[in-house]
This record gives sequence, C-alpha cells and structure tokens, in this order.
Amino acid sequence: MASIKAAVELDQCIPALRWDARVVVEGDLATFRIDGETVELSGTSPELIKTIAAAADGTKSIRAIADQLGSRDHVVGAVVKALIEAGIAVDLASRSDNDLDPRQFTSICRRLFGSWKYRLFSHPLWELLRSGEATKAQFTGWLIETYHFIEGVNDRLALSIAECADHRIKPLFIRHYFEEYDHSHFFISALRALGYDAALVESTRPLPSTMAVLNHMRNCARRGPLEYAVSSAFLESAGAERASGLTFLERVREHYAPDRPRVIQPLIEHVKLDEAYGHNQMLELVCDKMPRIPRERASEALGLCALFIETLELWSTDIVRYYGAPAAGPRIGAALQRPLRMGKGNGSNGSVLR
Ligand SMILES: [Fe+2]
Repeated sequence: MASIKAAVELDQCIPALRWDARVVVEGDLATFRIDGETVELSGTSPELIKTIAAAADGTKSIRAIADQLGSRDHVVGAVVKALIEAGIAVDLASRSDNDLDPRQFTSICRRLFGSWKYRLFSHPLWELLRSGEATKAQFTGWLIETYHFIEGVNDRLALSIAECADHRIKPLFIRHYFEEYDHSHFFISALRALGYDAALVESTRPLPSTMAVLNHMRNCARRGPLEYAVSSAFLESAGAERASGLTFLERVREHYAPDRPRVIQPLIEHVKLDEAYGHNQMLELVCDKMPRIPRERASEALGLCALFIETLELWSTDIVRYYGAPAAGPRIGAALQRPLRMGKGNGSNGSVLR
C-alpha cells in the first residue's frame, strides 16, 4: 500500500491522470485499477484522493487544483506525488528527458499489451465461441470477418511500406508483408470445409466494423512506422499466445466442427506458421532501428493502439449482433461487382471490367 505521509512541493507540476485509470473508494482506501493491477492509496480521505485525481486533467498546476478544490497545497501535492510514483498520473510539465530508450518503450508496450489482451478477449464474442453458446451463424460470421481482416493485410501492410520513409525500417515491413500477404487462404480453406465455395467467400462484403479495423491500421500506416508497428505488434502478440490460442481452437472444434477436422486444422496451421516466422518480435526489430523515441511520438503510438483495442471491441460486438440476428448469413456482394483486370480489352487505357 502506498501511503501519503509528507507534504511535497510540486507547484510546477501539471499532473494528468492516465485515461485508462479507474478509481473506487473502498473503506478508507482509494483503490486505482490500471494495467491489470491494483494500487491502493491512503493517508487522507479517500474521497479527497478521488477528487484530486479527477481534477488532474493536464490543464492545471497543483496550486490551481488546490485553489479549485479549496484544499491545502501540500495535501494536493502529496496525493499527486503518490499518483505519479504509482504510474497512475504523469507530469506534463516535466521535460527533463524528452526521449525514450527504444527498449524502455517496447517494455512499456509489452506491459500494456497484457492487460489490453485480457480486456479484448473478455468480450462476449470470445466467451460465446469458447463455450459453444455462439450460434452456427455467429461462428461462420466470425470466420468470414476474420478472412476479410486477414486479407486486409494487402490494404494495410502494403500501405505501411509505401508510406515508410525510414530506409532502416522499410525492409522489415517488406519481409513481414512477403510472409503474410496470402494468409487469408487459411480461412478460405476453413470455410470451404464448412461448405462455402471460395468464390462466394471472396464475394462477401465485410461488416463496416471490419473495414473500421482496416481503416484504423491504414491511418496508423500514414502517420508513421512506429505508429503502425505498435498496433501491428498488438495483433501479433495476441496471435502469439500459442497455448491459449490452440486451446481456444480445440474448444471451437468440439462445438462447431466435431466431425470436420479440416475446418479448424487450417487455423491451427496458421497459428504455427506465424509463430515460426517470429512476427511477435517485429516491434523490437523496428524500435532497434530507432536510436531514441520522442515521448510525444511514443504517447501518440500508444494512444492509437488504445483506440485500436476499442475498435476491435466494436468489431467483436458487430459480429455478435449482425450474425446473431435471425436468418443472418454471409453478406453477398452486389452482382455487378467484378474485379478490375488489366488486359487488351476495348478500354483506351488497356483495362476492362470483366
Ligand atoms: Fe498470418
């Protein structure tokens, strides 16, 4: 338990509570939950600690917070110091070291990924699939949307290569793309084993939230290689939990394809192939190419990844709702839609719609 014992002079400090911190008052303790951990603060009224934390919005000094709340400076200062030391708040006025060591940054990412993965996979979609309570349509819908999600690597990773101006990092993205560009075939194979023709799967329209996931990654790619690498690394870290991933797939097989081993087998092969490629180390490889990482840029990349988690949660909700509706099925694309192909046709630019 962290205890507030002494007044601390922090008049120049501009505290900002972390956006993902949650606080509850329990007895004589103010209990904060952050990054999957619990931090208890005591030593003064827990309600006052909660009020000071809420006032630490990154716009006011300690003195201004004390004036606003009618509290004494040294009490507010002591609470803020405890919050900062516990990693619950940061001092926006601190500019003594504006850069992060790359290893320091990757360790922060890895710590956050753990709690973010727990949060994402606590979504009802994953529990419904794990328990077999999801309908057959929801299971099939999950496979179809994941197919689009994985096929979308050609939209997102290709763009990250095109937008990457850092010649030290671009080859890493190119290699990643070379290894990933065709992995949607694993999901086509799974859906074929379920009885869905490959051409039908390819003609389905993804849910808007699947497009939102891809658009988020494209936005990261446009902002920069670090921004893309962090959100991509979260995906890879989620896929890299081989033991839990294989256990999950085994449960899914028992519920939805007990007599069709070729439905789940391609998904198992995909997990193993990505593991063999070592894609979960891409973030470290990218950051090793960066001598120092400005704090603002690191914060921007982490903020984007936090938004990515929320987007993935909405994606999970969309799958449960859309494919859970009565008579829901694959979203077949417009009949007139055809791929644009290059050829000798009658178009003056050499391309025709077939
Ligand atoms: Fe893959």
